[in-house]
Amino acid sequence: MSGFSAEWLSLRERYDGAARNAKVLDAVRRHFAGQTAIAVVDLACGTGSTVRTVGPYLPVRQSWLLVDNDLSLLARTSTLSQPPNLGVTARPVDLARDLELALDGPLDLVTASALLDLVSAEWLDRLIIEAAVRRLPIYAALTYDGRTVMQPAGSFDKEVLVGFNAHQRTDKGFGLALGPAAATRAIDRFEHFGYAVVQGRSDWVFGPEDRPIQEALFEGYAEVAALTTQMTAAEIGSWLAQRRYHLAEGRSHLRIGHVDMFAWPTANR
Ligand SMILES: C[S@@+](CC[C@H](N)C(=O)[O-])C[C@H]1O[C@@H](n2cnc3c(N)ncnc32)[C@H](O)[C@@H]1O
Repeated sequence: MSGFSAEWLSLRERYDGAARNAKVLDAVRRHFAGQTAIAVVDLACGTGSTVRTVGPYLPVRQSWLLVDNDLSLLARTSTLSQPPNLGVTARPVDLARDLELALDGPLDLVTASALLDLVSAEWLDRLIIEAAVRRLPIYAALTYDGRTVMQPAGSFDKEVLVGFNAHQRTDKGFGLALGPAAATRAIDRFEHFGYAVVQGRSDWVFGPEDRPIQEALFEGYAEVAALTTQMTAAEIGSWLAQRRYHLAEGRSHLRIGHVDMFAWPTANR
């Protein structure tokens, strides 16, 4: 699990697609059902997973502005298939600095997937306020919420997960990250700023057949545990070996909690 590499984003995309909450996606679809065209900005787009997955729920004529600060990820969006009804523009933007640039222009919808847990409480408020003044709805998916269950349970799972959640709260470029608190905080702040919110869980559920992604996640947990826990290198090594053993034996299950939400400005604000 190496940061936001294209390989990691590609590995997770099909699980993200399966996890996205159907009720929330349906709320997005219904909100725009009367329109024949839509302009969307996807914040922190990576390689374009949200266009591929959410596009089918939106009006047929779509114009997407994809923004990210990673040029190599943005470059990969050029491989998106572009049928005649779909226009895609990729633009490098540092959202920590220039969020407002991404939101200017004629837009109907803001999307963001796997972003809100990276940002600070201050940046989240900035996003919601800037969206509110433009009366823009926001679909924010796959926000990690701190619920993780590994089966079979093993020694040091708890320490590793506490260390991982502590790391999730460190600065990811937007100030101290909300990490596992992001979803609850976002719902609260959307409502505070006059938005209605539909939300639901979008957990990753991995079984024994999902070995590469479980392997990547366990490796990532072990790396982070070395930075954020009191565990010795030997203890971390033994924890990782135990998880790999369960994987090799075809009995490793992993559930990781996420929340999706669709928020839209209500008429009376
Ligand atoms: C977890 S990935 C999610 C990518 C994509 N939304 C998806 O679901 O596949 C987080 C994304 O945030 C982007 N990102 C991180 N910091 C950023 C910043 N300051 N400005 C713009 N994008 C940023 C990363 O480059 C990465 O593409």
